[in-house]
Amino acid sequence: MKVFVAGGAGYIGGIVTAELLKAGHHVTVYDSLVKGFRQAVPEGARFVQADILDREALDAVLGSESYDAVMHFAAFIEAGRSMRDPGAFFRNNVTGSMTLIEAAVTHNVERFVFSSSAGVYNAVKHVPLTEDDPIGPANVYGETKYMIEETLKWYHEILGLRYAALRYFNASGAVPGHGEAHDPETHIIPLVLQVALGQREKVFIYGDDYATPDGTCIRDYVHILDLASAHILALEGLAERSQAIYNLGNGAGYSVKEVVETAREVTGVDIPAEIAPRRYGDGDILVADASRIRQDLGWEPQIPDLRDIIASAWEWHRTHPYGYNGS
Ligand SMILES: NC(=O)c1ccc[n+]([C@@H]2O[C@H](COP(=O)([O-])OP(=O)(O)OC[C@H]3O[C@@H](n4cnc5c(N)ncnc54)[C@H](O)[C@@H]3O)[C@@H](O)[C@H]2O)c1
Repeated sequence: MKVFVAGGAGYIGGIVTAELLKAGHHVTVYDSLVKGFRQAVPEGARFVQADILDREALDAVLGSESYDAVMHFAAFIEAGRSMRDPGAFFRNNVTGSMTLIEAAVTHNVERFVFSSSAGVYNAVKHVPLTEDDPIGPANVYGETKYMIEETLKWYHEILGLRYAALRYFNASGAVPGHGEAHDPETHIIPLVLQVALGQREKVFIYGDDYATPDGTCIRDYVHILDLASAHILALEGLAERSQAIYNLGNGAGYSVKEVVETAREVTGVDIPAEIAPRRYGDGDILVADASRIRQDLGWEPQIPDLRDIIASAWEWHRTHPYGYNGS
């Protein structure tokens, strides 16, 4: 298939592009590099530097050849920032996505795979969460993801666009030469590993009075290679199903304290940690029930263990302490 990957110079889009190429698909990466890196785009993909808000640039690329599918990763991702600067998130994640969907439909692209998030759910007590659990984003970021899921639903219903919305839990881990390089970094595993590298003094644990066994938040960490295989299955699965919403997680939760402790074991560094006040909008436990994609498409995560996930991330951070920017 010919696949247009918006946001393919980022952490998850880059690895999915590499796996698409391995599976024999042709890929065009379309990314403004507002957050991504040219070096994160795998060899073998065509690269176009442009913004999804730029309809003319989208038309030029989508009209230049016949694409079978769009995979859409391009978005701002920091939930905390979305509560300080909602306009930036509505503009980039909602207006940008709507511009991309409209362009895709105009150019007769039949399949659309969207990066959604566990952030669409109500910060619930349900463990694990199924796709039918109540929606109720706790922040603007989650709201933007849900708005696009709803937009896709109507394009499907009215215009027949075939789509999959993939609700990732905590994307994590790395593969040789490709890992997490967000700026600012807000994810716990890279933050902890940056302390191990001596780039930060300590890691903050936001709240230790949650309703969990050790009082710290529990999350479901899913390796980016497992996310990538789910994308390829979802893309192919759209031949049979015209609409799909799937959770992507391992169904196993680890607390923040467990993440820090495992990182200490993996790195051999006694990573200092300090308890800080809770952050607004953090739920006690977010763990996925991913049985729907397992049953529908036979998805089987290969790297479910937290230690393996952190070890792969450590290899990336140790060998690329400044990410894609060299030393
Ligand atoms: N990382 C996670 O744990 C996680 C969890 C749930 C959902 N997601 C979603 O997955 C997707 C990818 O996340 P990531 O961690 O790889 O983020 P990332 O920041 O590494 O990648 C996003 C990419 O999109 C590009 N981009 C952003 N806005 C753009 C625009 N207007 N035009 C063109 N390119 C643009 C950036 O330059 C970057 O390369 C996002 O949609 C995110 O919301 C991520």
